[in-house]
Amino acid sequence: MSSQSSPNVAQTTRRATTLSTLIKLKQSGEKFTCLTAYDACFAQLVSEAGVEVILVGDSLGMVLQGHDSTLPVTMDDMVYHISSVKRGNRGAFIVGDMPFMSYASETQTLENAATLMRAGAQMIKIEGGAWIANSTHLLAERGIPVCAHMGLTPQSINRIGGYHVQGRDPRQAESMIAEAQLLEASGASILLLECVPQTLARQISEMLTIPVIGIGAGPDTDAQVMVLHDLLGISPITPKFVKNFLKDSEDGIRGALQGFVQQVKNKQFPGPEHSFD
Ligand code: KIV
Repeated sequence: MSSQSSPNVAQTTRRATTLSTLIKLKQSGEKFTCLTAYDACFAQLVSEAGVEVILVGDSLGMVLQGHDSTLPVTMDDMVYHISSVKRGNRGAFIVGDMPFMSYASETQTLENAATLMRAGAQMIKIEGGAWIANSTHLLAERGIPVCAHMGLTPQSINRIGGYHVQGRDPRQAESMIAEAQLLEASGASILLLECVPQTLARQISEMLTIPVIGIGAGPDTDAQVMVLHDLLGISPITPKFVKNFLKDSEDGIRGALQGFVQQVKNKQFPGPEHSFD
């Protein structure tokens, strides 16, 4: 066998994560991890550290491009970064964010989701509550798995008015529970909850059969997601739910990534200091 055709060692050491893997992990009670990555090099490091899900998030607009929100991110940006991540990935499940206004109509939703899947996403993520139920249904029916992102939805920052915890008000909490159930019934395969009180996140995670990934949602969701640059302590802003894993790493970036995986698996992270009541 020529060196060109010999399999990459890393590729042979990890079984690819699929949606079924994630469902089984939820059923077994084992926590799983998700990290953002935007390029091939970090996709390789993140997947080799054992992170199950790579999110190519539109947070790239803030951490890579320097914008003050995710709104300027385009479909072309997402295609570029998803295809880069796909080339570096060694077995993680790739979720690609649909950028702002790329799923405003049914036609746009289907065409743009197909474009991201062709670029290398294995699931797409869209932000919203009840209003994305129809798109979720359309996509799921056509074989495109959907991660529905609820709670703090950064693409709606101008309507929300700031990066605040969502669902503290009992009426808002009730409607979030109903919307989460509606999205599951509409065919969502994963729910992501951002910045919600930990008791509400626990209630939703226990109620749904699909895996729930949390960020700033306390320790009781089925999985935890972090923005890579936050985990490495190089983001300009440090929200309460962020932990710098590089600070205590004895093996640089690899150690930081492995520390995140270990601390989520053994339920050390997130602690009360990273969660909201
Ligand atoms: O874009 C992103 O990175 C995200 C995470 C903050 C969940 O949506």
